[in-house]
Amino acid sequence: MDQGGADILPEKAPPVAPAPLQPFDTSAPELMLFPYRQWARHHDQTWRRPDAALLSRVDPFGWPPLREAIADHLREWRGLPCTADQIFITSGVVEAIGLIAATTLNEGDDVLTEEPGYAVLNRAVHHNRLVSVPSPVDQQGFDIKTALQTTPRAKAAIVTPSRHYPLGVTMPLSRRLELIEWAVARNAYVIEDDFDSEYRFQGQPLPAMMSLSNQDRVIYVGSFSKVIFSALRLGFVVFPKSMLPKVRSSSPQIDQQASLMLQPVLARFMHSGDFAIHIRRMRRLYAKRQVAALQAIKLHAADLLIVDPVPAGMHLVANLTPDLQSRMSDTEAAKRAKSAGVTVQPLSSFFAGPPMRQGLVMGFAGFSEEQLENGVRVLAAALRA
Ligand SMILES: Cc1ncc(COP(=O)(O)O)c(C=O)c1O
Repeated sequence: MDQGGADILPEKAPPVAPAPLQPFDTSAPELMLFPYRQWARHHDQTWRRPDAALLSRVDPFGWPPLREAIADHLREWRGLPCTADQIFITSGVVEAIGLIAATTLNEGDDVLTEEPGYAVLNRAVHHNRLVSVPSPVDQQGFDIKTALQTTPRAKAAIVTPSRHYPLGVTMPLSRRLELIEWAVARNAYVIEDDFDSEYRFQGQPLPAMMSLSNQDRVIYVGSFSKVIFSALRLGFVVFPKSMLPKVRSSSPQIDQQASLMLQPVLARFMHSGDFAIHIRRMRRLYAKRQVAALQAIKLHAADLLIVDPVPAGMHLVANLTPDLQSRMSDTEAAKRAKSAGVTVQPLSSFFAGPPMRQGLVMGFAGFSEEQLENGVRVLAAALRA
């Protein structure tokens, strides 16, 4: 047998087990309290005797009952009156951007993104041969007027109006209307990235921006990564009705990536009410965890970090006190925290260009009150050392 090249292959090593998540990892929702038993029941009921339709050629937009369940969810939780035929199931936000690029944009088009923002989106824009133009976010979120000063010919804007990522600010109605007005006037698109809006602790979740536009210029991108967990790799796009013929005609060329194994299970999970119960339960839990994290910071790190409560979401952004700032950057603070056994993300790392702000992004959702308190003690000791 030809052994050519075997001597240059690395020695076989077993795969390394992933390290447990450390407080304040922002990627983690609460994983231990997911209703696994109910999920397993829906899985079993789906696949023990699968629906014949599942084993034949499924609509390229995804499993119809899941699209129905998502439309119901969006009407109830996001005030978005859409129908199942508008929904395309994806494997997440990267596929969503690829799909939108393929159906609405041309190579080289300028796409506005938020600065600071989610680096994955900028990368997805580049991968689709578009030009991503990060534009500064202020206390009211993304501002189309500012963005147009440098990029008047933009063809799309990807925004997080319900809760900016990572700063957490909500875009007010006036800014939303300006953005839609621009999109209508320029035949451009607003891509609304809405990833964790169900977790609002005060009042009702704000309606999705797509619900404001009767002019069909807003495309909604949703995800199950925060409300369930990201290993699921399921998300979706809601297209305006007028775009559907175009998306349908492009769909034979679109490489549908969302696995069909989990779509019917998720559909049952949603239709049964287990999903809504889970979200409500997590919302109460995360509200308490936020309070615990804030109290711990006040008690153990008030000389180091300044942090305000957030009305929604799964993480806080802590500002460094002037004293801490005079001693180190947020990157150095994050490095020290990591060596001490806690994970905080420097706010500066969310900037595509030169960072305009420093701070520490701290997830609280995936950790018990005790873990959060201990985490703050460890962090404070690391920053004082
Ligand atoms: C800003 C933002 N958008 C979208 C998503 C969802 O991405 P995906 O559905 O690919 O997991 C996330 C997840 O963390 C996010 O932080």
